[in-house]
Amino acid sequence: MRVGILGAGGIAAEHVATLRQLDDVELVAVCDLDRARAERLAGGAATYTQWAELLTRERPDAILVCTPPLTHRELTVPALEQGIHVHLEKPIARGLEDAQAIVAAAGRSRSVCAVGYQWRGIEVLDDLREAVTGQALGLLVGINAGPAKSRPWFLDRSQGGGNLLERASHHIDLERALGGEVVAVQAAASAVLLAQSQGERGDIDDAAAIFLHLANGGLGTIQVAWTREGLPEKYSLDVLGTNAFLHLELDPEFRLHGRSDGRQIEATSRQDPRERSISRFIQAAREGQPERVFCSPAAAAGTLAVALACEEALSSGGTIPVPTS
Ligand SMILES: NC(=O)c1ccc[n+]([C@@H]2O[C@H](COP(=O)([O-])OP(=O)(O)OC[C@H]3O[C@@H](n4cnc5c(N)ncnc54)[C@H](O)[C@@H]3O)[C@@H](O)[C@H]2O)c1
Repeated sequence: MRVGILGAGGIAAEHVATLRQLDDVELVAVCDLDRARAERLAGGAATYTQWAELLTRERPDAILVCTPPLTHRELTVPALEQGIHVHLEKPIARGLEDAQAIVAAAGRSRSVCAVGYQWRGIEVLDDLREAVTGQALGLLVGINAGPAKSRPWFLDRSQGGGNLLERASHHIDLERALGGEVVAVQAAASAVLLAQSQGERGDIDDAAAIFLHLANGGLGTIQVAWTREGLPEKYSLDVLGTNAFLHLELDPEFRLHGRSDGRQIEATSRQDPRERSISRFIQAAREGQPERVFCSPAAAAGTLAVALACEEALSSGGTIPVPTS
């Protein structure tokens, strides 16, 4: 499997480390607008500053799109049209129109397309689902708090969607994967700056609380906070069912514990879900089975629709219905 990387920033470096561990996978080329960045990551592979040139000259079997959200459509749709498999970083896009174009291109293509919401690939999710089988989920409580690298596009709400799209959308996606469709949302932001109380500052919120009204009548909440370097971090999800109270620890360890139906539940993931997401994508591409990826473009577009409704709720203060796809 000959693989190319588009965008040689933070997440690309993590994916390159994963690719190097996989059998029969060769990193053939890296593209970044900044050639020096591409070279730092390439380790002997070819480098490009124009993604279209990489596709034409290298004809990779698969690419990993690791660029900021506003570029996702431009890079992904032509690759899918050329029959190249695409692992696209989350969020699927900045806006719904771009997301729909990617979903449509993936639907027309025989290539495999996965979106990088890697928490769908957490091994202990299977244990969690099994533990609550037959129960209704009443409350999901997500915490997503910790430091993150500042990048120019992340600080600009119109480019990156701030902490809502960049970070909280991981929890939105996970809560949808477990709790089902979201029909309406509410949200509020803190006016106090945390990470941005020092150093670079943009127009995004540092902390917010989100409420997801689930189609089954249950409620999902997410507290998201971007904090200063050096402070502790916390990523977790509590799941309360009619006869279950389970705690899922997220990042860097993925552990499940709690009680359900009178049973003590304990499970630990062995493999990092990000690595699992990439290796499952490569496997699905090899086997030509798009449905095997953990997060499909359609699933990621559904998550984006919820995140964009949250963005509207933040600015209006109202309860915003989520359009059905
Ligand atoms: N799944 C995860 O946990 C996770 C974690 C971090 C980032 N991400 C996602 O990955 C994407 C990239 O994030 P990052 O933190 O690596 O950003 P980054 O800013 O560190 O890197 C992005 C790189 O893309 C390059 N680039 C921009 N436009 C380009 C173009 N048209 N052609 C080629 N290169 C281009 C930039 O020069 C930059 O080097 C975002 O969508 C982000 O949300 C996902």
